Amino acid sequence: MKPKILSLINQQTNHEYYSYFVYMALSTFFERCGLFGFQKWAEKSAGEELNHARRFMEYLQDRTQMVEFSPIPAPDCSCNTVLEALDLALKHEQRVSAWIADIVAATSSERDYTTFAFVQPFVVEQIEEEK
Ligand SMILES: [Fe+2]
Ligand SMILES: [Fe+2]
Repeated sequence: MKPKILSLINQQTNHEYYSYFVYMALSTFFERCGLFGFQKWAEKSAGEELNHARRFMEYLQDRTQMVEFSPIPAPDCSCNTVLEALDLALKHEQRVSAWIADIVAATSSERDYTTFAFVQPFVVEQIEEEK
């Protein structure tokens, strides 16, 4: 696997763990507001992010690459209203879509069509994630 691709997939694994924390932070915010439906949604989303992290991690392992974990920054969840919280989630998912687009661009320039194929479901999934 080309170093550039390896580095991007490793980064994405860590981004997905970060996404988990973003949704858990939102979950605690909604809980504090007594908005248990929103809380459930945030927790379900957090679980999905863990699944994404695992898929990226397992892909590296399937390609006999080392997984490199990096420190996960604390999520910024300084929201005061539900609208702000939902906007934070949307902005975050837009960042994720941009990271995934970076991977797709790199797989194309590095001619790594295996990783290109692997990452396609994530490209499509981001439609739901940004909804
Ligand atoms: Fe994700
Ligand atoms: Fe997501």
